[in-house]
Amino acid sequence: MQRPLHYLFLNEALLEIVLVLWLGSRVLAVCPSMCSCSHSHREVDCSWRGLRLLPDGLQHNLRSLNLSHNRFQNLDGQLTAYTHLRILDLSHNRLNQLPVDLPLYQWNLRMLDLSHNKLERATFINNTLIKLCTLNLSHNHFWTLPTNLPINLETIDLSHNLLVKVLPDSLDRLPRLTHFYLHANRFTTLPFGVLDKTTSLRVITLGDNPWACHLYADTAYLVSWTQRTSARVLGCTLGSGEFGGQVWALSHVPRRVL
Ligand SMILES: *[C@@H]1O[C@H](CO)[C@@H](O)[C@H](O)[C@H]1NC(C)=O
Ligand SMILES: *[C@@H]1O[C@H](CO)[C@@H](O)[C@H](O)[C@H]1NC(C)=O
Ligand SMILES: *[C@@H]1O[C@H](CO)[C@@H](O)[C@H](O)[C@H]1NC(C)=O
Repeated sequence: MQRPLHYLFLNEALLEIVLVLWLGSRVLAVCPSMCSCSHSHREVDCSWRGLRLLPDGLQHNLRSLNLSHNRFQNLDGQLTAYTHLRILDLSHNRLNQLPVDLPLYQWNLRMLDLSHNKLERATFINNTLIKLCTLNLSHNHFWTLPTNLPINLETIDLSHNLLVKVLPDSLDRLPRLTHFYLHANRFTTLPFGVLDKTTSLRVITLGDNPWACHLYADTAYLVSWTQRTSARVLGCTLGSGEFGGQVWALSHVPRRVL
């Protein structure tokens, strides 16, 4: 039996509507109920929601995702779909490692905030995260500088960690670095020449570290570097007399070293 022609058309039209709705929902996905989203749903704020898992319904073409102040312990494999991300705020969580696949998928990322987590170390992958400008790793448990830091970084905040030392050539490939925050760590010394290649540096913070001011050999490089650099060296107590009679090695640090 042949069905009437108009019946066939109706079916086709229905199918089309269903298809459009389905595709539409994939592209225009609704904002997850516990988050707030911008009009385009490409900037999503899911902060302060007690989250341990990513909420369902996040659009894949997100540009900005705020997951700060939650309970994430591990985000491995969960962010791979969001390759348009430019801003990712993961601060104030419980992460003890960098999400392993993050460097491989987030090639558009400009700003990554991992402050106030439990990271102890991190290894980036060469030639990834090449657009990353700002990396905030402050208030973690880093005892060693992350390796293979993305080369176009302009701002690195590693303050309030447990850093004891920096390997001699670990800052050699950061030609655009302008702001480097190292205050509130456990540095007693910096290796000879370590800052020589950070030629774009404008501000560095070194204060609140137990610099071994009484050991001339350990601090001589830092003293000579602060005299040569045009960068502002902030919060450094090296020459301030804080170490009493032991500051002899650093007494020539210029006044702009505050
Ligand atoms: C994320 O949300 C927190 C808390 O609501 C806010 O303080 C922070 O500025 C936001 N981060 C970004 C990158 O906008
Ligand atoms: C990353 O690049 C640095 C500097 O070129 C090199 O020393 C290191 O071996 C590279 N690491 C890997 C895993 O390729
Ligand atoms: C990094 O994060 C901390 C805490 O969230 C904040 O106080 C600090 O200003 C941030 N650093 C930069 C360079 O934005």
